[in-house]
Amino acid sequence: MKWFASFLAFAAIQAISAAPAIVKRVSANDVATLGYATLNGGTTGGSGGTTTTVSTLSALTAAVSGSAKKIVIISGTITGNTVVKVGANTSVLGKAGSSLVGVGLRIINVNNVIVRNIKISKVLAEAGDALSVQASHQVWIDHVDLSSDRDHDKDFYDGLLDLTHGVTGITVTNSKLYNHWKASLIGHSDNNGAEDTPITVTMANNYFTNLSSRTPSFRFGHGHIFNNVFDSNNDGINTRDGAQLLVENNVWTGTNKPLYSTDGGFAVATGNDFGGASNTAPTGSFTSAPYSYSKLAASAVRAAVVKSAGQTLSF
Ligand SMILES: *[C@@H]1O[C@H](CO)[C@@H](O)[C@H](O)[C@H]1NC(C)=O
Ligand SMILES: *[C@@H]1O[C@H](CO)[C@@H](O)[C@H](O)[C@H]1NC(C)=O
Repeated sequence: MKWFASFLAFAAIQAISAAPAIVKRVSANDVATLGYATLNGGTTGGSGGTTTTVSTLSALTAAVSGSAKKIVIISGTITGNTVVKVGANTSVLGKAGSSLVGVGLRIINVNNVIVRNIKISKVLAEAGDALSVQASHQVWIDHVDLSSDRDHDKDFYDGLLDLTHGVTGITVTNSKLYNHWKASLIGHSDNNGAEDTPITVTMANNYFTNLSSRTPSFRFGHGHIFNNVFDSNNDGINTRDGAQLLVENNVWTGTNKPLYSTDGGFAVATGNDFGGASNTAPTGSFTSAPYSYSKLAASAVRAAVVKSAGQTLSF
């Protein structure tokens, strides 16, 4: 049996050295279980629908269009200079190691979409944002990896994750945003209050690092931001234009304005570790989220979030 024991030892070493930091196996049929995406009937995306695996831009574009219930799994690297519109009732999932380079995803005027384990990088501003949700409802974004670089002008790329035009029922979890100028714009513009006041977004267990601004910039609407880690960003959470944020048990290092207000934004902040800096936003009225959830203490957040944020799932 000696050869068998050494074979096992060899196999174990191969498995360890080949394995990424953390890979958690999940189902392509998973539905949203946290935050605003669970309200109003929930967010099921394409759960239970047909499954298509794509590895080219044209196949991806065709597979995600239309409102039929469907799961689309991206395999390998797809390169381009465009954004792909995702239809209603769709789950777009990335295989471990898959990647969209220069190709963004846009969820516009549709409901019930799940985007999980997708890695998107270097989407040029002329094409659009890396990942955007506009005028849509019930969207769950989970374990996405969004980046570009900061080697160009700040307008060479646009947003990494922009949620605008009255989006509601949005949950962003376990995602990593990094190496970029303008990270996440929520609420379109200062004069878009009529459309953007209904905005509801939950952001939990995400890792934001090496970003210049908008981590996030949040106008109008309600935002529940908890258990996120923010490292070495120039900016913090900017609550603006009457936004009501509930900011709980997050951790910051390396910014001197982790949470601040412009044009009358508000925040209720509890249990945060501001990394030695201070919250300067006026206290608002959003004291309790309209769903149940559990949260880690700030002291436990870094160890739990950083290693699993981003594309760490396998389907
Ligand atoms: C999405 O699915 C629901 C029910 O499964 C259906 O009622 C609805 O029409 C679909 N959405 C669109 C835009 O077709
Ligand atoms: C931050 O982004 C810059 C510009 O893209 C890059 O050179 C640098 O390596 C990044 N820093 C880290 C810690 O990744």
